[in-house]
Amino acid sequence: MLVILKRGSGEIDEQAAQILAGAIKKKPALTLGLATGGTMVGVYENLVRLHKTGSVDFSQVVTFNLYEYLGLPASHPQSFRHFTQKHFFRHVNVQPGNIHIPDGSIRGNYEQYCESYEQAICAAGGIDLQLLGIGRNGHIGFNEPTSSLASRTRLKVLSRETLDDNAKFFGTGEEAPQCAITMGIGTILKARKILLLATGASKAAAIVKSIEGPVTSAVSASALQLHPDVTFLLDAPAASRLTQREYYERVLKMTALLTPDRLS
Ligand code: PGA
Repeated sequence: MLVILKRGSGEIDEQAAQILAGAIKKKPALTLGLATGGTMVGVYENLVRLHKTGSVDFSQVVTFNLYEYLGLPASHPQSFRHFTQKHFFRHVNVQPGNIHIPDGSIRGNYEQYCESYEQAICAAGGIDLQLLGIGRNGHIGFNEPTSSLASRTRLKVLSRETLDDNAKFFGTGEEAPQCAITMGIGTILKARKILLLATGASKAAAIVKSIEGPVTSAVSASALQLHPDVTFLLDAPAASRLTQREYYERVLKMTALLTPDRLS
């Protein structure tokens, strides 16, 4: 596990975009797992900028979004399809046929649909690089606390904390979705490389539990301790409760010296 500590969210956005662009340069047909949410807006802004200046070409990249709300049409402004379209796809050259986002408008046959999403990931050769945010309750994707660490793409009921965090995005009188279709923790752990970003003090408790706490289904992101190639990219407030910060900084310096490839 690598823990990269940055001062603010601007530096996080830039470095995350550099890591993603670097991975695409190394493998132009990269299979990329995409995240959404407030933390990702700046990352996509930086990726779009890199694309517009000719530094990254998405024409062969294949993408899989982590999740979608159940019951929202794709056109709804709070759907994650809409988010990704608005902040990323419409500005870059990912081929429409290479974009995969769970369909939040399906009714019934959820298991079959979720299995087909897993199969599509497999058919694309598996996810090379998975981008992740983290919830205040430690969720990755919409794998709420007590999700099985072996879970695969499935229908998931959202926790009260997630509903509260998301309520502000929906209009008064509008019913916010209670469920989502999300990749599972087992799905995420199969990605070859994982990059998790967290900014702000509201994530500090989830971050210290995920990195320095025990592996437990009570904190889904703690399962990342089982993955051989995961990087946490954190700003100072999100990292503020970590007890081993000096060690993480030394690890990073030595990694840059001895195995710089691990950082790109
Ligand atoms: P946020 O969401 O970036 O909007 O904080 C992160 C998440 O819940 O995964």
